[in-house]
Amino acid sequence: MIKLFNKVNEFKEYRKSLTSKSIGLVPTMGNLHSGHLSLISQSALENEVTIVTIFVNPLQFGPNEDFDKYPRTLEQDIQKIESLSIDRDILILSPSDPKEIYPDNFSTTISIKGLTENLCGASRPGHFDGVTTVVYQLFKIAAPKTAYFGQKDFQQQLVIKKMVNDLDLPVEVKTMPIVREESGLAKSSRNQYLSDQQILEALELNQTLNKISDILTNQTYLDASIDLNSLLEPIIKDSRWEYLEILDSENLQEITPKTNSAVILGALKIGSTRLIDNQVTKIQYAR
Ligand code: PAF
Repeated sequence: MIKLFNKVNEFKEYRKSLTSKSIGLVPTMGNLHSGHLSLISQSALENEVTIVTIFVNPLQFGPNEDFDKYPRTLEQDIQKIESLSIDRDILILSPSDPKEIYPDNFSTTISIKGLTENLCGASRPGHFDGVTTVVYQLFKIAAPKTAYFGQKDFQQQLVIKKMVNDLDLPVEVKTMPIVREESGLAKSSRNQYLSDQQILEALELNQTLNKISDILTNQTYLDASIDLNSLLEPIIKDSRWEYLEILDSENLQEITPKTNSAVILGALKIGSTRLIDNQVTKIQYAR
């Protein structure tokens, strides 16, 4: 059964009848693609009820970003969820108005220091405050046992795990693998802004991450003093790269001898569209 709610109060009332059920939450901004659908399928596999939220969150967009043009495609989103033919309950919460999530006079922001300051946090000031504030609200409304996020937004999933840990929220956050086009391009709602020519240009993002990952996995470094980021200097001379960095995948800080796994993260501007991608990789040290 798929049930749609546009009002948070009606949703909350219904949620009260589910106290004995295991609940999975998939927060989205809609315009669902196979990356989102993989999260929904995983949640339905692991929970009796899956709540999918569809809410284009104004708080996480900067003044010159694509909030107004962000695709709102509720009808098609519902059809895509139906086409999964899941035999467990799916509740879709698509608030009809931002005031459903942020009532008049709402003035609280959840803000995390450190982890939000580099990468997307540096290029999109305030973005992660918007993300943590809305995800906190959605956790409160949906009260899930488990919440599912995609690895494509690598920094986002770490920020949410940090919030859950710091505030001791009773939610398990699971990160699911990136879903890609056959070409390697990571699935994203923003891919549809690209022309055919720009899609070809966008492949450089994933191809560069793969190349760097191959270099890292095929070498044994004597120690962690090697400046891995010098590998990146010739690439990021091209001003389309907003960032390209190799960092510790647990805390997004510089690699140290304690680093268990690294992550290569890139943001590439194609015209006015900004795409992100990442690849987790091992770094081997001679011991
Ligand atoms: O990843 C997204 O789509 C959004 O940042 C999220 C987690 C739904 C919060 O608005």
